[in-house]
Amino acid sequence: MNAETPVIQINDLHKAYGSLEVLKGVSLSAPRGHVTSLIGSSGSGKSTLLRCCNLLEDSQQGDVIFKGEPVKWKGTGHHRRPADAKQVLRIRTNLSMVFQQFNLWAHMSILQNVMEAPLTVLGRDRAEVEKAARGYLEKVGIGDKCDAYPAQLSGGQQQRAAIARALCMEPEALLFDEPTSALDPELEQEVVRVIKDLAGEGRTMMIVTHDMKLAADVSDHVVFLHQGLIEEQGPPETLFGAPESERLQGFLSATQAA
Ligand SMILES: Nc1ncnc2c1ncn2[C@@H]1O[C@H](COP(=O)(O)OP(=O)(O)OP(=O)(O)O)[C@@H](O)[C@H]1O
Ligand SMILES: [Mg+2]
Repeated sequence: MNAETPVIQINDLHKAYGSLEVLKGVSLSAPRGHVTSLIGSSGSGKSTLLRCCNLLEDSQQGDVIFKGEPVKWKGTGHHRRPADAKQVLRIRTNLSMVFQQFNLWAHMSILQNVMEAPLTVLGRDRAEVEKAARGYLEKVGIGDKCDAYPAQLSGGQQQRAAIARALCMEPEALLFDEPTSALDPELEQEVVRVIKDLAGEGRTMMIVTHDMKLAADVSDHVVFLHQGLIEEQGPPETLFGAPESERLQGFLSATQAA
C-alpha cells in the first residue's frame, strides 16, 4: 500500500433490505488523512453506506476495499456474505464507529468503557491500554471522569467518551454517524470542537451529519446522497457555495431554513 491508497474504497455498491433498494451503485473513497462527509435527506442511505464500509451490513454487489485489500465474499446477491471472519474483524477494528446514541456500557466506568475493546478484541497489555485510555479521555476533555459511570455524564460528555473509546482502538479511520444529533445545541459544540481537533490532526474520517456547518468546516470532500445514489460531490466550497444539482440546492435551502 502506498500513501495514495485510500483507507476505504467502495465500488458500485448495491444494498437492499428485502425488496427495498437502499444503495443503488455507490462508489466512494476515503483517502488517508481526509475528512469525507455524507449528507442527504433522511432515508437517502447515509447510515447504510457507513455501516457497509465497516461490514456491519452485508451488501449484494460491488466491492468494499480496505487499504487496497478487497473484502472476500462467498455467495451472491442476497446470499452474499464476507468469506473471511478474520478479515472482517481486522477491518472493523480499524474503522471505529461513533454512533448517535453513544452506545456506552452502562455497568462500566468511563475508563473501563474505553479500555474494553483494546483489551478483549486486540488483546493488548492492560497497563499500556490504561495509560492510552486516560490520555484519550484527557484529550477529549473529560480526564476527570474516568471513574464515573455513563449515567453520571451529560450527553456531550458521553459522546466525547465514545470518541475516546473509538480512538483507543488506534484505528485507521473513524466513522461518525450523526455524532451530534442527540445533543442539545450547547453540548453539541463541545463535540464539534473535538471533531474539529481530530480533523486538524489529519485523521481519516467519514462523517454522516445533518450539521451543514460542521460538514463545511471540517470536510475535504462532501458527498450528497439522494435515494441511494450520489447526486453530487466535491470540495465543501463548491458543494455548499455553488451547488449544481437542483436537488442539492433544494436540500441546502431546506436545511438552512430549518
Ligand atoms: N435494518 C433495516 N431494515 C429494513 N430497512 C432498513 C433498515 N435500515 C434502514 N432501512 C431503510 O433503508 C433506507 C435508508 O436508511 P438509512 O438509515 O441508511 O438512511 P439515512 O440516510 O441514514 O437516514 P437518516 O438521516 O434518517 O438517519 C430507509 O428507507 C430505511 O427505512
Ligand atoms: Mg442515518
